[in-house]
Amino acid sequence: MSAAVKEVKKVTTNTLQKMKASGDKIAMITAYDYSFAAIFDAAGIDIILVGDSASNVMAGHSTTLPITLDQMIYHAQSVVRARERSLIVCDIPFGYYQSNSDIALASAIRIMKESGANTVKLEGGEEVLDSVKKIVSAGIPVMGHLGLTPQSINKFGTYVVRATEEQEANKLRKDAQLLQEAGCFAIVLEKIPAALAKEVTDSLHIPTIGIGAGSHCDGQVLVMHDMLGINTEFKPRFLRQYLNMNEQVTNAVQHYIKDVKSRDFPNEGEQY
Ligand code: KIV
Repeated sequence: MSAAVKEVKKVTTNTLQKMKASGDKIAMITAYDYSFAAIFDAAGIDIILVGDSASNVMAGHSTTLPITLDQMIYHAQSVVRARERSLIVCDIPFGYYQSNSDIALASAIRIMKESGANTVKLEGGEEVLDSVKKIVSAGIPVMGHLGLTPQSINKFGTYVVRATEEQEANKLRKDAQLLQEAGCFAIVLEKIPAALAKEVTDSLHIPTIGIGAGSHCDGQVLVMHDMLGINTEFKPRFLRQYLNMNEQVTNAVQHYIKDVKSRDFPNEGEQY
């Protein structure tokens, strides 16, 4: 008699395609380590993004630019070890795909081979099309990212809402079509008007995942530190904070300090 095997239906890029077709919304969250990824996976999240926002929330940099490919692979390896069901997407960081498509492919291959992530994500439209095509033709699924693209913060100069002017909105419409034609399986739409996100979502057969792009996207993504209230200074209008972890952790640690100083911890039952 064979041993019982726990059957877990893993989320794949095909699952996401079917979810779009049936109107089931896709829930995505960032994670950068094993422990949180395990909680999110067990909670039933569809996609875990190992975002280059790790540069901000894990390493304390003011932008996503400094994080390296080796560091992203380290974070992705930790997240992948926790994966039972969710799809793992790993950002290709700044500087590892912009110069040419051979470098982009080499970076994507390193992520897939060394971390075990299921897919990669990169930012931009027409400018990165050759790279998207090359990575997809090597059998690696690619998620696009349009609108506010944090790796280009030095070009934009600010994190305000993008594509409010017709010229930029038209470029975004065109880029979304080009990314779909190049083989992207989904596109993140960051901080753009809800009406534009709806139009783009309706025009594509691949899913859109919004962050600050309104309710009509096929899915939503939030950075875990923002939605759990670890990082309480970042309060954009689009953010819904589900927990005040900063306050709860502060209270717990202050309680612990008090117990140590007052000799309350450890007590008789907490020693050998
Ligand atoms: O790096 C990241 O966390 C992201 C999300 C904001 C989509 O790209």
